[in-house]
Amino acid sequence: MPPKFPLRTFKPSLQVPRRATLTTSTLVHRPSITPITAAHSRLVNLKSHFSTTMAPNNNNQDFKLDKLFNVQGKVALITGGGSGIGLMATQALATNGAKVYIVGRTEEKLERVSEVYGKDIPGQIIPVTCDVSKKDEIKKLVEYISSKEKCLCILFNNAGISLNTQQTEAKSAEEMSKNLFDDENETFEMWTDTYRTNVPQLFFMTTAFLPLLEAAHKHNDNFSGTVINNSSISGIVKTSQHHFAYNASKAAAIHLTSMLANEITQNGLRIRVNSVAPGVFPSEMTAGESDENQKSHIPREKYESKVPAARPGEDRDMANAILFLATNQYLNGQTVAVDGGYILSAGSGP
Ligand SMILES: NC(=O)c1ccc[n+]([C@@H]2O[C@H](COP(=O)([O-])OP(=O)(O)OC[C@H]3O[C@@H](n4cnc5c(N)ncnc54)[C@H](OP(=O)(O)O)[C@@H]3O)[C@@H](O)[C@H]2O)c1
Repeated sequence: MPPKFPLRTFKPSLQVPRRATLTTSTLVHRPSITPITAAHSRLVNLKSHFSTTMAPNNNNQDFKLDKLFNVQGKVALITGGGSGIGLMATQALATNGAKVYIVGRTEEKLERVSEVYGKDIPGQIIPVTCDVSKKDEIKKLVEYISSKEKCLCILFNNAGISLNTQQTEAKSAEEMSKNLFDDENETFEMWTDTYRTNVPQLFFMTTAFLPLLEAAHKHNDNFSGTVINNSSISGIVKTSQHHFAYNASKAAAIHLTSMLANEITQNGLRIRVNSVAPGVFPSEMTAGESDENQKSHIPREKYESKVPAARPGEDRDMANAILFLATNQYLNGQTVAVDGGYILSAGSGP
């Protein structure tokens, strides 16, 4: 189906001087130059997006870790914060002073996380039950957060699901077809359920929270509201890893991230959208369960020969990445893989 609205068109211009160097500054300081591509408006917007008062800095104090990775007092919302990667991110932000709303469908998990990890820390962990694959529930969530906060500084769209695994290895076309097509758990519904949680949810959560995210920079000195989508190396590698539907949904999540970042920037909003693409980390999804502290475990040996790092990811690997993604004001529209070299050894798709 063709898009409902015409795609943006850009008129070629004869006013651009021959051999003009289209740098950010020439474009910004020569308004008479009509845009020849999307780059003009994009660069102008990017300039306002990232322009800060930072001059070359002679003050060593500004290079201290607590300045570079400062999340003190920031308001964050993490979907799927009750286990796995969401919990790692929750600890990273809350123990460094952020007020973190953790969202999931299971109240007990969220309550336990708040109880176990929310005590004696500079930040807060606040449980909120919500199914983020439903638009009306997202709407209520926005209303709830709006009633409590003036802004949302960090939105980590982390919740995700993986529903079916298949044997992809086969010695004949018949066997391959049997494995993949005849599998009764591999249905159109399974594909759309996976997609629903892993893709449109990111779109609806991000777009619903735009006003609160945009308000972030007004309440925090030079801190643009930021969205981090949890995609996966599964959306990058060429192997299906025995779950086509999940990997296809994660590739879509990566492209959705760049489209959202682009459109938000085009509209001049001070909100950065990036994605993190984890390799293998212990979680309920990868380990099948979690313990009484909502933590999961993958034996180190299991990945000794599978990943260049010779181990699964650890809490601190993810915590470190989330702090970087949340605080780096110059990162926008990117997918950052944190995978111990998984993509290097598995090889990426197109
Ligand atoms: N672990 C890895 O190796 C790995 C690698 C790459 C990417 N990822 C991605 O990381 C994200 C987190 O997964 P995980 O590995 O940490 O697994 P996990 O422990 O199963 O965490 C997923 C969380 O999402 C919540 N959730 C699922 N559907 C939801 C919904 N509709 N509404 C609200 N919350 C929902 C779950 O809680 P409830 O069931 O209680 O709602 C759960 O706490 C996922 O997007 C996953 O694809 C994981």
